Amino acid sequence: KHVAVLMGGLSAEREVSLRSGEACAKALEAEGFKVTRLDVDRQIGERLAALRPDVAFNALHGRYGEDGVIQGILEMLAIPYTHSGVLASALAMRKDRARDVLRAAGVPVAKGLTVDRLEAAKRHVLPPPYVVKPLSEGSSFGVIIVRADQAHPPQELTRADWSYGEKLLIESFVAGRELTCAVIGDKAYDVIEIRAADGGWYDYDAKYAPGGSIHILPANLKEFVYQNVQELALVAHRALGCRGVSRTDFRYDDSPGGTGELVVLEVNSQPGMTETSLVPEIAAFAGMSFGELVRWMVEDASC
Ligand code: DAL
Ligand code: MG
Repeated sequence: KHVAVLMGGLSAEREVSLRSGEACAKALEAEGFKVTRLDVDRQIGERLAALRPDVAFNALHGRYGEDGVIQGILEMLAIPYTHSGVLASALAMRKDRARDVLRAAGVPVAKGLTVDRLEAAKRHVLPPPYVVKPLSEGSSFGVIIVRADQAHPPQELTRADWSYGEKLLIESFVAGRELTCAVIGDKAYDVIEIRAADGGWYDYDAKYAPGGSIHILPANLKEFVYQNVQELALVAHRALGCRGVSRTDFRYDDSPGGTGELVVLEVNSQPGMTETSLVPEIAAFAGMSFGELVRWMVEDASC
């Protein structure tokens, strides 16, 4: 089979995607596939139409790659592709819409609301602490944490070069341990606890710098909590209509005086796929090598 690995692209997460794409392309070659690496630009439709691969392996993150746009092009070209389809991708990427769908499915999400950027710069729209999130970015781009003792709303929101959209999601800050769970096919796999190495939060550097975070797999949780995470990851994956692989991120506050609740932060329909990313780590723990994982994804591709 000839597999085109779609990578790079036009989003803020371009660098992350180049790393995911390179890792997947190498592993697919080692598995015996003929691989073409395609750095995605605005001519990708014509390029794919000319190349006509058997499968498109979507290693993109963020805008145009994770939000249903490239999925729509692949549908039109009738090229089977990995990961979620048009609707699930569009829903999962829009944090506000995803929240509505998840809540309707009974998945616990943080309290939150959508507001205009300048409104959020003028006043605290929720009592601090809260988190300001762009409606459709990944890898923590544009995320601002407003601490409990912060008197003023974040002033960077007024910047003329603000590039994360005019509408923002404001969510109550959910304290607690950071957990993540992968769904592969129709099964929830194991749960990782993530601790940022410097005790801070799991921001861009903690995600991608070597040694930026510590992963505990399997997460040390009471059995019913562990199973609850797995169940919620599967419910979330199905509620959004995801396909193939997804990864759902959680907070769990079991501190003394904490809420004891599990809250879903988001569902990633195009989770990071470098060899040291979370989903490959979870797959490996279950006995599925990186090569076996990407092979399964190619075989599972459809349109
Ligand atoms: N948005 C990054 C790639 C992730 O979810 O892993
Ligand atoms: Mg994400």
